[in-house]
Amino acid sequence: MNSITVRTPATTANLGPGFDSIGMALDLWNELTITRGDFSISTVGEGADLVPQDTRNLIVTGVEAVFNHIGQSIPSLQYHCKNAIPFSRGLGSSSAAIVSGLLAGSAISGLDLTKEELTILAANIEGHSDNVAPAIYGGCTVGVRNGTKGWIVDQVSVPEDLFAVLFVPDILSNTNESRAVLPDQVSRPDAVYNIGRAALLVNALSTGRMELLKYATDDRLHQPHRTQAFKAMPHLIAAALKGGAHGAFLSGSGPSVLALATGREVTVSYEMAETARTHGLSGKPMILSIAHCGASVVASS
Ligand code: HSE
Repeated sequence: MNSITVRTPATTANLGPGFDSIGMALDLWNELTITRGDFSISTVGEGADLVPQDTRNLIVTGVEAVFNHIGQSIPSLQYHCKNAIPFSRGLGSSSAAIVSGLLAGSAISGLDLTKEELTILAANIEGHSDNVAPAIYGGCTVGVRNGTKGWIVDQVSVPEDLFAVLFVPDILSNTNESRAVLPDQVSRPDAVYNIGRAALLVNALSTGRMELLKYATDDRLHQPHRTQAFKAMPHLIAAALKGGAHGAFLSGSGPSVLALATGREVTVSYEMAETARTHGLSGKPMILSIAHCGASVVASS
């Protein structure tokens, strides 16, 4: 192979109580083309002036991980990125870069790694699987660590008519900083609070009992600690529920807030945007379908 093009979806992680474990793919895609040639990176679209244009780029990290995994030297490649996923806003832009690089690297190597193998490599780079797993599999996924290097991923069916309604603030979030505010220890009542809700969330999504989501998307493990940095978050969640969302939560480590809705998307979006405006938070509303398939190779030559 001389050239490979892959598409990888945006993802939302945690979904409220499923910290580092549950995620969902969204119908918004980055496209990467790698071509054999002298090393270069060009990026257009979201984050074009922010993403590193050298080997620190996570796309390169993904390609390198494949070639290290198979024990071959890393080929010299030209990378061209067309990005639609907002950069560093809690919508899985880092995971999309890692997964794009892994998938493109896997294809150009001729090895064609399985989804399971891609997930292990991706989650070991990211440190958790809740963005990379849905980016690879599509839909909603639960991922758990198995030993020091292994991961188990399973898909959760979600209703076809479910939409994600987002408010994407203009401010950037650094995941490492956003994780640094989280305590190392949690209390037993808080653990029980989240365990029950995470189980309820998975069951509600797979049975279509959307009326349970307003309870099932609440969280005590990360959102309360991240409110200090994203003060509008609880107000945006309340606005989404007022507008008729089934449930709402901080998307990944923020700053975006995501609501799940069926048939009330425009009202939910309006309520969230209006609340953001009254709190002096600039940004953009988005309404997205759930992406039911994950990253794929769309062209090769
Ligand atoms: N589960 C992660 C977090 C998602 O909340 O920090 C962002 O990488």
